[in-house]
Amino acid sequence: MGDIVRLIDVHKTYGRGDSRVQVLDGVDVDFEVGTFTAIMGPSGSGKSTLLQCAAGLDRVDAGQVLLDGAPLHELSERALTELRREHMGFVFQSFNLIPALTARRNVELPMQLAGRSIDPVVIDRGLAEVGLTERGGHRPAELSGGQQQRVAIARALVTRPKVIFADEPTGALDSRTAREVLALLRGVVEEHGQTVIMVTHDPVAASYSQRVVFLADGRVTGELFEPTAGTVALRMAELEPGRSGTNPC
Ligand SMILES: Nc1ncnc2c1ncn2[C@@H]1O[C@H](COP(=O)(O)OP(=O)(O)O)[C@@H](O)[C@H]1O
Ligand SMILES: [Mg+2]
Repeated sequence: MGDIVRLIDVHKTYGRGDSRVQVLDGVDVDFEVGTFTAIMGPSGSGKSTLLQCAAGLDRVDAGQVLLDGAPLHELSERALTELRREHMGFVFQSFNLIPALTARRNVELPMQLAGRSIDPVVIDRGLAEVGLTERGGHRPAELSGGQQQRVAIARALVTRPKVIFADEPTGALDSRTAREVLALLRGVVEEHGQTVIMVTHDPVAASYSQRVVFLADGRVTGELFEPTAGTVALRMAELEPGRSGTNPC
């Protein structure tokens, strides 16, 4: 099927001089079209940075980032913005909805920003897909956390982007609501052949993916296919020895 997102020998540092931090230190990773991948690793291992670089939200210092063959590292800010609007969707831990807008208007926003005409049928379908047909007229403050995240997912999906980037999308949700959101993300891959790349530190969340890529100290240290919560937790314990729970100290 081919790779939709490729990172080739990506390096990224933040800060200067003494406060310089090497966050990505030669990352090579590919994401195949129509797959659901989880990125896991200890806190501070560079997961969010990897996602931001893969989405062209942040610039790499060295290496290449390809989206469907397009070299993001060579594009102007303007071209990047356009590419993101056309081909990428974003879901964050904190939902990032516009408080003053209704759920429906929030879902319409990406199309409006892309200068596309807003087809009410498409918006209806988007709201229905996440089970929020009855909630289109509500503002974010009038919705539960799970409902807000479902609005954010509908917003991410409405342009039918090639890739959906999600950073800890279930981090602020209770476990039942989290499972609903994860099932939605998996459905996007299974039913529409879109690609989902999700950062998480939760082995249960990762078990909804088809493949887990492990990151430690800014490097890819391994991967796991057909993960279960158990196999993921074991691997994470190896990456975070101090926090495995088996350490008598
Ligand atoms: N904008 C930034 N400026 C300076 N340091 C940053 C910035 N973003 C992240 N970092 C640092 O980079 C490292 C990796 O961060 P991040 O990618 O957020 O890790 P993770 O998502 O795995 O917890 C951390 O040490 C963090 O403090
Ligand atoms: Mg992070």
